Amino acid sequence: MPRLFQSFLSLAALAALARAAPAPLFGINFSSGDESDDATAPFSQDDIVSTLTRPAEFARAVYCSTGIADLSCGGPCDALGANVKILANGGDGASTPFFLVASDSDAQTIFVAHQGTEAKQVLSVANDVKFVQKDANATLFPQASADVQLHDGFQEAQGRTADAVLAAVTQALADTGFKSVMVTGHSLGAAIATLDAAMLKMAVPDDVAVDSVVFGLPRVGNQAWADLFDSLFPTFAHVTNQNDPVPNVPPHALAFQHPSGELHITAVDAASGDATVVECPGQENENCSAGNSLLDTSIPNHLGPYFSGISFGGKQCPKN
Ligand SMILES: *[C@@H]1O[C@H](CO)[C@@H](O)[C@H](O)[C@H]1NC(C)=O
Ligand SMILES: *[C@@H]1O[C@H](CO)[C@@H](O)[C@H](O)[C@H]1NC(C)=O
Repeated sequence: MPRLFQSFLSLAALAALARAAPAPLFGINFSSGDESDDATAPFSQDDIVSTLTRPAEFARAVYCSTGIADLSCGGPCDALGANVKILANGGDGASTPFFLVASDSDAQTIFVAHQGTEAKQVLSVANDVKFVQKDANATLFPQASADVQLHDGFQEAQGRTADAVLAAVTQALADTGFKSVMVTGHSLGAAIATLDAAMLKMAVPDDVAVDSVVFGLPRVGNQAWADLFDSLFPTFAHVTNQNDPVPNVPPHALAFQHPSGELHITAVDAASGDATVVECPGQENENCSAGNSLLDTSIPNHLGPYFSGISFGGKQCPKN
């Protein structure tokens, strides 16, 4: 069976129709879930530097296929600094995106990062027939109630590295004595990272703080997933860049729901690289990505630059 829908555009048109028509359409009962229209608040340069830059540097470096294990991948590795050690890495850069587990002795934190894909590819995965929702894997997510449903393709991708990531993080926490884990990624890697974060939070001892900051996140699950995620990660951040279409797939109208914690970039100054960022309270805030027109999207916004000159993708790696 080919794709359920041929392209992102046809999905966008379907979602637009669904927004306009509250009644069931084509036999599908569109239920939109929670939305927020609370006013946004400015997010300062200082906050960008203290909370977003470090995860972004790991999410950028994990794209590098050459020289990641000994941090000889050039600029993206150099930015991580001398006090980072790669403890585990793997993936094939294709069906299993690259991942890394690293210790950062300055931050006393274990970082987990997952590679993403081109916007075109993640749009195609998100819109693939595998956008059917499936139960959360009870082995990996023992605290997920029966109503938690996850995007099948994203859960499958996370499942391919889940055991390796959990084993490496468990070992790293034991070896370093650190009490903090930060899980990050961009694009498809952001989707995998949020699933990993929930898995790790349910698995590591209570005195270990697990948190997640991701970039260009597509929707990963349903309303029950978004609510579970909010309860696990009150300080989660997912950064959305201007008119990037990826945060709007799969459509909200097909019962996919983002957790809270969106930080929306409204502009990036081309000369300085400085971003104007706003905090978007609640889930699916209509003043941020959820309010973007599906007919006015920018695929380049998916890769960046986001802030501080940071962009994502294999092109950032000089040796790829
Ligand atoms: C955005 O925020 C304002 C408050 O600043 C609010 O009045 C408005 O309804 C919100 N939603 C949209 C879609 O603009
Ligand atoms: C659930 O996760 C476990 C651990 O990774 C794995 O062995 C099992 O195959 C998964 N179940 C499904 C249905 O994917």
